[in-house]
Amino acid sequence: MTMTQPPIFDSQSPLPKVAWAKGSYVYDTNGKQYIDGSGGPAVYCIGHSNEEVNAAIIGQLGRIAHGYRYTFTSDALEQLTEIISTRCGGTLNHMVFVTGGSEAVESCLKLALQYHAARDDMHRRKFIARRRSWHGNTLGALSVSDFLERKTAFEGSLIDVARVSAVNTYRPILGACAETTAEVCAKELEDEIIRIGPEHVAAFIFEPVVGAAGGCVPAPETYAVRVREICDRYGVLMIADEVMCGAGRTGWWRALEQDGAEPDIMSVAKGLAGGYMPLGAAIYNDKVAAPINSVHGAPLTGHTFTGHTASCAAGVAVQTIVTRERLVERVRSNESTLKQMIADSLRDVDAVGDIRGRGYFIGIELVANKETKQPFGSSHGLHIKIRQQALANGLICYPVGGNVDGINGDVVILSPPYNSTDAELTEMVDKMSLSIRQVLAIERPRQHD
Ligand SMILES: Cc1ncc(COP(=O)(O)O)c(C=O)c1O
Repeated sequence: MTMTQPPIFDSQSPLPKVAWAKGSYVYDTNGKQYIDGSGGPAVYCIGHSNEEVNAAIIGQLGRIAHGYRYTFTSDALEQLTEIISTRCGGTLNHMVFVTGGSEAVESCLKLALQYHAARDDMHRRKFIARRRSWHGNTLGALSVSDFLERKTAFEGSLIDVARVSAVNTYRPILGACAETTAEVCAKELEDEIIRIGPEHVAAFIFEPVVGAAGGCVPAPETYAVRVREICDRYGVLMIADEVMCGAGRTGWWRALEQDGAEPDIMSVAKGLAGGYMPLGAAIYNDKVAAPINSVHGAPLTGHTFTGHTASCAAGVAVQTIVTRERLVERVRSNESTLKQMIADSLRDVDAVGDIRGRGYFIGIELVANKETKQPFGSSHGLHIKIRQQALANGLICYPVGGNVDGINGDVVILSPPYNSTDAELTEMVDKMSLSIRQVLAIERPRQHD
């Protein structure tokens, strides 16, 4: 590595002020350059300031910014609906557009409840969710989440949600090993449905590849298919939260495509409009749509800005580029190269416990002891220091904490734009490796503090 050594992190420093960006690079008002290795939190899938997307948004704004959903449909909304239906496949061709991930998840939960209500099955009100998961900041989405740090202040007012274990082959649950994790965890879900009483369970919600709360944790092969069977057996809806891992991030447009499973309802957001405008969607299949449409006429969810015309225009433009430039395919074929580059760059770093993830959604879990997988204590604030050090080094990456037990654990996420050049990927990996090494050089000796 030939990079000069920038200053060691300063935890007191204020955030830099963003000025402009182009492609994979972002600049602050002091002229400092950052390479965007994480798309913020896995958002900017085609990089920044794309002229074609900007022109599409400006063109839409020049005609009309927003046609209210109960007054008008629009070309942008209809085109985006068509694109998403085609990308999702199956009968996932019904959708409610919203302005982000939390609203998308909130809508997914409400669609599940409305489906059961429309079938005159008002007993099915209970959600089951997994530990170490993140579904968003609104009260419903927060209720199904299990990110302690973000929930504690709101306890007492959240929905009572049933919880099953996180599904993680690096940290299998008691009584399982990596090979049996899929089956043991699927069985745990089935047992929980039976314990609650299937007649009370509305839906099971999970992230096909866990993002911020777990650090890019894909479920093992066969898990999603088993979940699909179990949900069908007990009349429970299957909700896939693809806000972070969807829209091509894992090398498949729907993350669950790779697992050979189709959910009843799914959320998508971050990569849908790539950060150019706020946009998300709750997407649902014919099975869910049929009773809703025949009994209530339409989904009983949505907001003033549902189907915002300029946001939909941004989504159409981003998805047109993703399709035309075969970026999902590029992500899929580059996955092993990116993982290998990361592994090579950290080969001699003994705190690297696991490198995992799919496509351009890769997490590096750092541990104090590789044999026991014991994390660094949260008092180290390792992930926060790596984030700051990376910024000082001119890298935006996405270090997260609490993946082990909600408090302890450190994972550094890399989630580059799908169209980053090979040289840019190399720069991201080098700067991430440097940042991790610099912080560990200070924190390793403090390990037993
Ligand atoms: C899986 C998942 N679901 C939902 C959300 C909430 O999305 P938003 O922050 O856009 O409201 C996030 C955000 O990180 C997420 O990762």
